Amino acid sequence: MRCDIISIFPEYLEPLNLSLPGQAQRKGLLEVAVHDLRDFAHDRHRTVDDTPYGGGAGMVMKPQPWWEALEHVRGLGEGTPTLIVPGPGGEVLTQKVARELADEPWMIFACGRYEGIDERVYEAAAEVMPVRVISLGDYVLNGGEVAVLAMIEAAARLLPGFMGNAESLVEESHEDGLLEYPVYTKPASWREREVPPVLLSGDHAKVAAWRHEQRLERTAARRPDLLHASAVLAGIDIVPQA
Ligand code: ADE
Repeated sequence: MRCDIISIFPEYLEPLNLSLPGQAQRKGLLEVAVHDLRDFAHDRHRTVDDTPYGGGAGMVMKPQPWWEALEHVRGLGEGTPTLIVPGPGGEVLTQKVARELADEPWMIFACGRYEGIDERVYEAAAEVMPVRVISLGDYVLNGGEVAVLAMIEAAARLLPGFMGNAESLVEESHEDGLLEYPVYTKPASWREREVPPVLLSGDHAKVAAWRHEQRLERTAARRPDLLHASAVLAGIDIVPQA
């Protein structure tokens, strides 16, 4: 998976060189290149923004540097990349979206700042490559960089060979629409709090049943919306949400 990231703050993306994403890069599973948008602005101040037509607060990112940057990066690889633009106005990043991103051989991430990128850049880009606007959630960040870190981490960890233990991918929250069960390690007793006895029983069937129950309880308490969605998927008739 190749990821080209365009940003006015290239240093923001440095965590991709650490930990598992860093290892994945060294193993050749993940290729990351970060490009400074200002390299494509040609005035003395390397200007990338201007005031919005129609008035209003803040600044808008100019189309010219963005287009030059996108054309430059598009010329660096083979085939057609998918352009991912992080933004609060996009589809929400879910595990399903992460799986779709993990299937993409090549993505260009365009990190906007200020009030966003001139709309014509999206229109021009959509004529030459698929474009997806993806949001981290229903809140506003200062720019797309933090969202891109999350998107690449969520996708790259699904690549075969990324995780040391592929089984841990199967059992985690959101893989099948439920949250994960609580986990415990040694000691069995800590500050007078005991590990649930079933986990010490050695009875694998009982442990599995207990864990499933815990997942349902936890999902009902914390994310009833997920429980409803997975019941619908499974064709189970449950009481409609209020
Ligand atoms: N940029 C600003 N807010 C964002 C969000 N919620 N998700 C993705 N990118 C953003």
